[in-house]
Amino acid sequence: MTDPNRVLIFDTTLRDGEQSPGATMSHTEKLDIAEMLDEMGVDIIEAGFPIASEGDFTAVSEIAKRSRNSAICGLARAQFPDIDRCWEAVKHARRPRIHTFIGTSPLHRAIPNLDMDQMAERIQQTVTHARNLCDDVQWSPMDATRTEHDYLCRVVEIAIRCGARTINIPDTVGYTAPQESAKLIRMLIERVPGADEVIFSTHCHNDLGMATANSLAAVEGGARQIECTINGLGERAGNTALEEVVMALKVRHDIMPFTTGIDTTKIMALSRRVSQASGFVVQPNKAVVGKNAFLHESGIHQDGVLKNVETFEIMKPTDIGLNEANIAMGKHSGRAALRAKLRELGYELGDNQLKDVFVRFKALADRKKEVYDDDLVALVQDAATNT
Ligand code: KIV
Ligand code: ZN
Repeated sequence: MTDPNRVLIFDTTLRDGEQSPGATMSHTEKLDIAEMLDEMGVDIIEAGFPIASEGDFTAVSEIAKRSRNSAICGLARAQFPDIDRCWEAVKHARRPRIHTFIGTSPLHRAIPNLDMDQMAERIQQTVTHARNLCDDVQWSPMDATRTEHDYLCRVVEIAIRCGARTINIPDTVGYTAPQESAKLIRMLIERVPGADEVIFSTHCHNDLGMATANSLAAVEGGARQIECTINGLGERAGNTALEEVVMALKVRHDIMPFTTGIDTTKIMALSRRVSQASGFVVQPNKAVVGKNAFLHESGIHQDGVLKNVETFEIMKPTDIGLNEANIAMGKHSGRAALRAKLRELGYELGDNQLKDVFVRFKALADRKKEVYDDDLVALVQDAATNT
């Protein structure tokens, strides 16, 4: 990667996203989503956790075989059988990657009951093993944001020395905050020998609703890979949402001069496909891809948008591949919006006719949450026959 401001997008919808309780996807759905991610320009697709099940192994292998542009990555714990199984699945890809991890915080070190030195030795052995199989190895200290800084520097240095090319810093429980996220990456880049030879990555969870802000702050701190999922799918409150970080970098390029390789016009189709496959409905007011993200109902907003769309829209619906109308007709809508909407439906009304239809429209909107195109046509026809 030559451009120092290019940020790699690592999508983990099919691994961390699918880990969300109830979000299990079928084999065909996974292949379909992987193909869409590849076409969208995602740099790395984490396709699954090959040792977790036969189904995961088959899906990762098949995605690896079909991959065209994206690197295909599989997850493996810091154990030789996990790493071997992962390699067996990803090796078919044009650009295979092994991602191996271990929990490094005091709470996580207690689980396998390893002391600091024993864990350091395990990291050295497993990263070396992965690197003997695959050129592209990513290593993660799970719960990095709650790991002692001195120890984090020590183990990151070991992983780099053993050949990891990407060092991913997970905020596993969504605990960090933007200032801290930036500082942590900056600290690692400054203190760890060899840090300038690898790419630092950020992997945030959204438990406090800060995943997007934390990921962008990490980029400010020097990270050049963001791990994320479509619709922010993921365990508990989810992961960083791909559509949010990518659109934030696009819309606020003036203050965050970083680029990605994502074709943003494919965002909406992927959001819908992932929602359908996972069964996770996207909340209507979800940033970027929610049903209401580009809809205006209040009279003042509708009037503004009709005169100059930039008054209330910071990005174009077409930027994410959405070609639908952005005006929702409801009780807060004004006369200008009604006139524009009727014009769109093929009705050009005189002032008196519009006044009449507007009164009927307001009465209906008081009874109904949303007034649809068919309702408006009925109102116009009714007004024509009953005046
Ligand atoms: O959240 C996390 O720590 C993870 C790791 C496996 C990278 O998903
Ligand atoms: Zn995670």
